[in-house]
Amino acid sequence: MSGPDILRGDGFLLRPFRSGDADGLLAVADDARVTRWMSSRFPHPYTRADAEFWISKTTSESPTETFAIEIEDRIAGSVACEEHDGEKAGVAEFGYWLTPRYWGRGIVTAASRLLVRHAFDVRGLRRLEAHVFAPNVASARVLEKCGFVKEATMRRRVTDRGGDVLDTYLYARLATD
Ligand SMILES: CC(C)(COP(=O)(O)OP(=O)(O)OC[C@H]1O[C@@H](n2cnc3c(N)ncnc32)[C@H](O)[C@@H]1OP(=O)(O)O)[C@@H](O)C(=O)NCCC(=O)NCCS
Repeated sequence: MSGPDILRGDGFLLRPFRSGDADGLLAVADDARVTRWMSSRFPHPYTRADAEFWISKTTSESPTETFAIEIEDRIAGSVACEEHDGEKAGVAEFGYWLTPRYWGRGIVTAASRLLVRHAFDVRGLRRLEAHVFAPNVASARVLEKCGFVKEATMRRRVTDRGGDVLDTYLYARLATD
């Protein structure tokens, strides 16, 4: 496989989701360790219907915004860069998750670097943003290693799944950075 929507990394592949991925996605997405500090748009518990909805939503994207991270022929997580519209066209929300089995190996940092280049060089976006729950130190570290700058602390902005009210950090990277 090759082409602009297949991005090859060292030991992983980024590719669009496709029909037939529901079982593979469900096997790694239904995990409270993954969803702990993610937006409630990512459901928990995660059902087969959630997987099917997500696949049908993202397979029609053009250009691809949502990539599966594939390791050893299996879905291991996802990275996404979702463009806003209207006055924020050219600006995209950046996000990622990975099944815990592979945490701490530099995979999401490497995948995010590929996606940053794709966003700027292939899609021509001008600004990428990510909102991070304050305790999510690993996620903030990924962004810093990918050249994102912490622009703001948004105080008491979210309630996490355990009921704690948390600050979030706004990170951003510009095409010109
Ligand atoms: C955040 C997440 C994507 C990181 O993926 P990963 O592949 O393990 O990340 P990497 O290995 O590329 O890098 C992680 C960095 O964070 C650091 N790190 C990890 N846990 C940490 C902790 N508790 N405290 C401090 N640093 C930590 C690692 O040491 C590494 O930095 P380093 O290279 O400078 O040593 C992964 O933990 C995850 O999927 N979490 C659940 C979903 C999520 O929170 N997504 C982000 C929402 S904003």
